[in-house]
Amino acid sequence: MREDILQASRLIREAHLVVALTGAGVSVESGIPPFRGKGGLWERLDPMEFAHIDAFLRNPARVWDILVREMKDIVDRALPNSAHLALARLEKMGDLAAVITQNIDGLHQAAGNRDVIEFHGSFARQRCMKCGKIVPTHLVSLKSLPPRCECGGILRPDCVFFGEAIPLEALTRSQELSSNCDVMLVIGTSAEVQPAASMPRIAKYAGARIIEINTEPTPLTASYSDLWLKGRAGEVLESLLSSL
Ligand code: APR
Repeated sequence: MREDILQASRLIREAHLVVALTGAGVSVESGIPPFRGKGGLWERLDPMEFAHIDAFLRNPARVWDILVREMKDIVDRALPNSAHLALARLEKMGDLAAVITQNIDGLHQAAGNRDVIEFHGSFARQRCMKCGKIVPTHLVSLKSLPPRCECGGILRPDCVFFGEAIPLEALTRSQELSSNCDVMLVIGTSAEVQPAASMPRIAKYAGARIIEINTEPTPLTASYSDLWLKGRAGEVLESLLSSL
């Protein structure tokens, strides 16, 4: 067993409150591409042109056609992988209080985690921009774009576009958990996008130990992470589970 994994499991065992912050790297093994780095979505599409609220309002049909259609195809088919399942086991064992996720694929809930904070909302739901009705994404037909609600309003993903605020409840609960946790597992995120990337910093300043699980180093690794468990989220989390 890797020494760093043993150290991490000791920290988790001694902790009263463990919180996870997850990013796209957790869902890579479910077939959902990350945003940055090798094969990242933003290597092919300019996020400011397709994932910014102003771009959506300017031309919803184009954003649906280029970005949302692809996301829908991928998310409709995606299943939880060993990383999601390991985090659900950790919660069941009482070793994980909540997951703050930047991901919009709904896979943490599908894996069984009950306390999941959707920091960037969820792509599993579409919301009518006129009447506010929520429609499950897999029920939305793409025959005509942009898809519309029965009331005639345009449907939009119920997630946070660039240029939009984080849902207040998600933000305040995440800040509270980050300020009170003893250990934060930071898994599969490039830690570049604010305000999500502030959560590990808030935790660190409040005295928590930061355990980073990532295939690559991030801006957190050198200055905030107490441990960097290098590797794929699924494998590392399974090893961590077996050492607890
Ligand atoms: N296991 C662990 N980490 C992985 C794996 C893996 N199998 N594959 C990739 N990674 C790591 C990469 O090294 C990178 O650090 O996951 C991270 C993915 O980074 P991003 O693609 O930037 O995803 P994320 O950090 O979630 O992006 C944050 O940016 O575009 C916005 O709203 C979007 O929520 C997203 C936010």
